[in-house]
Amino acid sequence: MSIPRPWIPLLVVLLGACETALPEPESPGAQAYRTRCGGCHRLYAPGVMTAAMWDVQIDRMQLEMARRGVAPLDATERAVIAAYLHAHATDAARPAASRAGE
Ligand code: HEC
Repeated sequence: MSIPRPWIPLLVVLLGACETALPEPESPGAQAYRTRCGGCHRLYAPGVMTAAMWDVQIDRMQLEMARRGVAPLDATERAVIAAYLHAHATDAARPAASRAGE
């Protein structure tokens, strides 16, 4: 069975909608992260990196945004997104119990 060609773009959109489940999904940090970081690729779960690695990635992404003509993060957006990613990073300080199920 083959998929008729006109359907392929729709399938790509639907697959792209399968988002990573984010911690505290309604928090301002999660919302800013979704809005500013989900435009070019899927969202990476905050728990995949240490806080320091997130800082490096955010710096790199500022360059990617500049390269593609996307407005860079302003100081507030950067702070909100970094705080959110740091709070859920691999090395975030929190009790082991709250990590259950990750
Ligand atoms: C303008 C498009 C664009 C936006 C917006 C963007 N990224 Fe990216 N991102 C890329 C591209 C292109 C790559 C792959 C190339 C690379 O890793 O340098 C990437 C890769 C990544 C990676 C994977 C790096 C790796 O080593 O596998 C992470 C993590 C990431 N982005 C995080 C973010 C975060 C956090 C934000 C929001 C602050 C963001 N991205 C916003 C374009 C973007």
